[in-house]
Amino acid sequence: MESQISNVKEYEAIAKQKLPKMVYDYYASGAEDQWTLKENQHAFSTILLRPRILIDVSEVDLTTTVLGFKISMPIMIAPTAMQKMAHPQGELATARAASAAGTVMTVSTMATSSIEEVASTGPGILFFQLYVFQDRNTVIRLVKRAEKAGFKAIVLTVDRPVLGRKEDDIKNRFRLPAHYSLGNLEEPIIGKKDETGGSLQFCHILGEFDPSLNWKDVKWLQTITSLPILLKGILTTEDARIAIEYGVSGIIVSNHGARQLDYVPATIMVLEEIVKAVRGKVPVFVDGGIRRGTDVFKALALGASGIFIGRPVVFSLAAEGEDGVRKVLKMLKDELQLTMALSGCPSLKHITRHHILTDSDRARSASRSRL
Ligand SMILES: Cc1cc2nc3c(=O)[nH]c(=O)nc-3n(C[C@H](O)[C@H](O)[C@H](O)COP(=O)(O)O)c2cc1C
Repeated sequence: MESQISNVKEYEAIAKQKLPKMVYDYYASGAEDQWTLKENQHAFSTILLRPRILIDVSEVDLTTTVLGFKISMPIMIAPTAMQKMAHPQGELATARAASAAGTVMTVSTMATSSIEEVASTGPGILFFQLYVFQDRNTVIRLVKRAEKAGFKAIVLTVDRPVLGRKEDDIKNRFRLPAHYSLGNLEEPIIGKKDETGGSLQFCHILGEFDPSLNWKDVKWLQTITSLPILLKGILTTEDARIAIEYGVSGIIVSNHGARQLDYVPATIMVLEEIVKAVRGKVPVFVDGGIRRGTDVFKALALGASGIFIGRPVVFSLAAEGEDGVRKVLKMLKDELQLTMALSGCPSLKHITRHHILTDSDRARSASRSRL
């Protein structure tokens, strides 16, 4: 069946078949009513394309740079926790696939492989996603390890001061199975089980995130590392402006894959206003619900410098390991290339706001024609 996969979305059904229910639900589900989860994908379908014709697209160039690093396409890998539950090679397989595709992998604080193990897979460009623990020495150690291992940026996740409420996980009593460990966190209790056979380390760690995290900590982080810092989880123009004042190197418009606060807008719906608020001072990236090359194109047309994918990686990893992740990256790349060719865009610079039509564009032109 896997050989007939023709688009990224098809991996989800295969992952659902292959994975234990508890793991599949953990990867797939969103917070509470899961309104935002559906909306993240649905919102893309409300944006239409305005292709231009008779433009030479015999060559279509997808290359770009992120924080000065050249990558093969504006499609990167978002941090997703505990990838070994999907496949024994977990984060190592994902890192190899990203490196082979010439793009960035972001490694989660909650990875089931260590920073050093992931870095040892090869020359790929790695970013480290940071959760801030109450014990700041743990944070310092993590950041120093990432620097030493050659990671290129810190992605500070700012939308999880406390854990969102995913009801599937509550029903399933989700726990990291005790034979896995969180590779980045030195813990004497690794391998010890709770009463359900879950990892005690995992339960312990969840209680260690710092709900007092605030803007002062962004400043503090800048004093302990010279790596560029991207803030992941911005959804408002107000916070985007403050982020610029605090001197961050980039913003990731994200609602954590709809896993934190339900009834926040789809990320693609707030992207444009955030891009405008940032006024070109730093790159703005986006994640959430991106499953097609046309979705990537729409995000770029709204001003994103690049996009990140989350679930497609864990689902393809579950289905086919490293090969699956490679295919997902290739399918999205090929689809983006096709969309660009059919829209008259020989390079990313050619993609403009005029290449798309949103609901608000339609409402505006309807009200103009009524005048
Ligand atoms: C299974 C899973 C685990 C995740 N773990 C993390 C994490 O450890 N840190 C983080 O910042 N975001 C995490 N996220 C959020 C992703 O980085 C990303 O924002 C989101 O998945 C993008 O939406 P998409 O899954 O629709 O592509 C996780 C998402 C999923 C699906």
